[in-house]
Amino acid sequence: MRLPKVLLVLLFLLQVCVVHARLEPRHWASALRRRLSPHLSDYFRNRRIHAIQSAYRSTQPAWNGVTPPGSVPDGKPFLPYYVPVGSVAVDDTWRSIVYSPHSWHNVSNPKYAQGTLHSTTTDGAYMTYLFSGTGIQWFGTVGPTHGIADVFLDGKHVGTVDGFAGQTAVQQRRWASAQLALAQHTLRIVNTGRGQGKTMDVDALVVRHAAVKKTEEAVGVNFIQSTGTAATWKLEQRGTTGVSAMQLSVISDTEAIIFDKVEHNPLTVNSHPAWGAVYNLDTDEVRPLNVLSNSFCAGGTFLSNGTLINVGGNPVVTDKTGAADFGDVNGLQAIRFFDPCLDNKCDIFEDPDRLRMASARWYVTVTRLEDGSALIMGGSKKGGWMNNVTVNNPTFEFFPPKNINGYNALPIPSPFLNDTLNANLFPIAFTLPDSTVFIAANRDAMIYNWKTNEETRLPQFPNGVRVTYPMTGTAVLLPMTVANRFTPTVMICGGSTVDDTMPGYEMSSQTPASDQCVRMTLTRAGMAAGWEVDHMPAPRVMPDAVLLPDGKVAIVNGGRTGIAGYGNVKGQIGQSNADNPVFQPVLYDPDMPLGQRFSSDGMPTSQIPRLYHSVATLVPSGEIMIAGSNPNLDVSEVAYQTEYRVEWLSPPYMSMPRPVISTLPATVDYGEEILVQVELPPGTSNVTISLMDLGFVTHAVHMNSRLVELECTCNLPTAGGNTTTLSIRGPSSIYIYPPGYGWLYVLADGIPSAGKRIMVGDGSAPPDDPAATANLLAQTSGPSQKSDQGGQGG
Ligand SMILES: *[C@@H]1O[C@H](CO)[C@@H](O)[C@H](O)[C@H]1NC(C)=O
Ligand SMILES: *[C@@H]1O[C@H](CO)[C@@H](O)[C@H](O)[C@H]1NC(C)=O
Ligand SMILES: *[C@@H]1O[C@H](CO)[C@@H](O)[C@H](O)[C@H]1NC(C)=O
Ligand SMILES: *[C@@H]1O[C@H](CO)[C@@H](O)[C@H](O)[C@H]1NC(C)=O
Ligand SMILES: *[C@@H]1O[C@H](CO)[C@@H](O)[C@H](O)[C@H]1NC(C)=O
Ligand SMILES: *[C@@H]1O[C@H](CO)[C@@H](O)[C@H](O)[C@H]1NC(C)=O
Repeated sequence: MRLPKVLLVLLFLLQVCVVHARLEPRHWASALRRRLSPHLSDYFRNRRIHAIQSAYRSTQPAWNGVTPPGSVPDGKPFLPYYVPVGSVAVDDTWRSIVYSPHSWHNVSNPKYAQGTLHSTTTDGAYMTYLFSGTGIQWFGTVGPTHGIADVFLDGKHVGTVDGFAGQTAVQQRRWASAQLALAQHTLRIVNTGRGQGKTMDVDALVVRHAAVKKTEEAVGVNFIQSTGTAATWKLEQRGTTGVSAMQLSVISDTEAIIFDKVEHNPLTVNSHPAWGAVYNLDTDEVRPLNVLSNSFCAGGTFLSNGTLINVGGNPVVTDKTGAADFGDVNGLQAIRFFDPCLDNKCDIFEDPDRLRMASARWYVTVTRLEDGSALIMGGSKKGGWMNNVTVNNPTFEFFPPKNINGYNALPIPSPFLNDTLNANLFPIAFTLPDSTVFIAANRDAMIYNWKTNEETRLPQFPNGVRVTYPMTGTAVLLPMTVANRFTPTVMICGGSTVDDTMPGYEMSSQTPASDQCVRMTLTRAGMAAGWEVDHMPAPRVMPDAVLLPDGKVAIVNGGRTGIAGYGNVKGQIGQSNADNPVFQPVLYDPDMPLGQRFSSDGMPTSQIPRLYHSVATLVPSGEIMIAGSNPNLDVSEVAYQTEYRVEWLSPPYMSMPRPVISTLPATVDYGEEILVQVELPPGTSNVTISLMDLGFVTHAVHMNSRLVELECTCNLPTAGGNTTTLSIRGPSSIYIYPPGYGWLYVLADGIPSAGKRIMVGDGSAPPDDPAATANLLAQTSGPSQKSDQGGQGG
């Protein structure tokens, strides 16, 4: 009886394979299932699905760092030259490129794109190319013999670029223009004969043909949308991030740091694409950082001494879409240091042999503790997508390492992080004022006492909503104020009810996300009362909740349908697992009665989709910086494209008379009274102080984000003047605000000043236990540190 059945299966397979041979594996996988299910027992069906699943996996590109068996790095260096989906490569040998007569010669060498390059040393030699599209890039060599070129677009002089460099570097992006009107354009490059050398060359052009979506077309280059009158919300698009903004944290009054994964970003460093940058909030300029390891999906926090740590990441990616080896090193156990500086010179510090975690962590969360150290939690032991029992890393560790609870710097197992599989990556975490840590993952939440290693479970989220990756929701620790006696209340919004045990090909980009927001005050009574359920006006997966100095919460970004990640589900848009971007922000007022807390009144609508790998943060000025969106394996120009444009959402207070902080001490210790000089707008009757941790955001998780009201003896200005000196008391304890940087905002009748950075505590380093560090290094091994000839140092 069994043999015929097996034959039947084979016949079906053969037939279906022939019919669907030309389709994508995931399509014939589902076709196969459709055809087979009516005929076969569940047993056979499940076996077939399993086999198809494996076949599907092995044909997948190396998204998220999975290295398909048998694939080897091809030794190609990680260079700026890259042809994104949605663009067309035009090699220098194409006949449609017009070169000025008698002044160019052909050079062949495998190191050039397509093995050839056109070079000239003649003054006035030119290249002209007529193209139809929305952007063009010119690639060539830079080096000691190269000089200055003029670039003209449609007859207009648009750039002067110097190709001189101490060392020769090939396949460099010499000039680029994007977001042109979709039309015919002419690019003309002229050798000027000026500069230190005389050479100019053309290796390739890359033309952007992407059918720009209507919504984006309307955006234009300097899109400014405003609802007009003075005190309203405004949205402005200004600046680009140079690297895709996957992780974002404000590091000074004028700068934010951005981390991306290794990919072909337009910003370069050492002649290869950068994957980290510092964004200047005043000038909108970006400075590349030289990140050594792949920081794809790391977490981060400041320590008490002002050093930012960025932890975890991705293995080296072997990838079919570009250079096989990006030239990075394995970032799974990385700890990257960044010390903000004033001179624009500081960079990432990495030392994988001596500075690393005990275990590999991809999609890891970090929170700062009362002693200024970092609690590092969860993640997966290798890249992938949905977490599972094979790759899960259900443990905690500390940085600097601690000898605690008998583990002496080795990972501390967490039953919670084991029980919450599968959708439990990038756990939500907040350090609480009783020295414990609130942690949420998937449908569950708990209180972790790191001192005793005890986990106390909280009630599950109502209605089956999952809130962590890839069913990503967002969370906020609501303001801790004098009025609420610094009592912590957490709120978690969005996510998805999709079953996290289904294979990706059974999930869809069109499944509605959740609009649920749950809130709990973390006191005995609050926990007993359970989760209070509220609803956002629109469902959202991957939203970002941004705490404002006035205690309200702006929710931006995300999609109405699908889940996080790319390349996994049915109905991908490009590679995105999510669709139907939510374009309008919504404001949450925690002090309003239930049912009246959400409003989008007067809030502008964006035209830029912000889906997977989007971020948002409050910046010192009081604006909300919105960036990112890149549900793609590598840079892509089709929907949903790799998004570099930054938007600035300005609450109404930005255009009202605001207080100004004139002087602020560099530090404030616990309970210390500091004197702060301010100017107050006329008629101010009430002054309050918000101390904020602006957090480290990635994947909708706003690590350390916090608002603590400071007590103040706030004398109003004497009649006729507008200046006064406030006497502000530092937070009462390390439990309320863990030591480290904060931003202080002075509010006049609820209108905040721009914030200024202040070190809370004495700025000393967290406790260091050299014996624990030594034990970690002795008892655990580092990642296989893979480097190649390609990237670093170019
Ligand atoms: C340059 O080389 C290409 C490829 O070998 C050839 O097709 C082309 O005619 C050459 N052009 C010149 C100007 O020599
Ligand atoms: C677990 O996840 C990893 C990484 O995505 C994947 O390679 C592996 O096949 C998964 N295992 C199971 C049993 O699904
Ligand atoms: C982790 O969960 C699995 C079931 O998914 C269970 O068998 C195992 O005992 C758990 N391990 C720990 C350390 O809790
Ligand atoms: C305070 O008064 C000075 C002098 O009139 C004025 O320049 C300044 O803008 C005022 N500051 C505020 C916050 O209104
Ligand atoms: C100022 O405002 C805060 C918060 O709204 C309130 O608690 C406080 O009583 C007010 N102070 C005065 C002097 O009105
Ligand atoms: C901050 O503390 C960490 C942990 O002790 C240490 O490694 C780092 O060097 C310190 N940073 C500075 C700037 O001293």
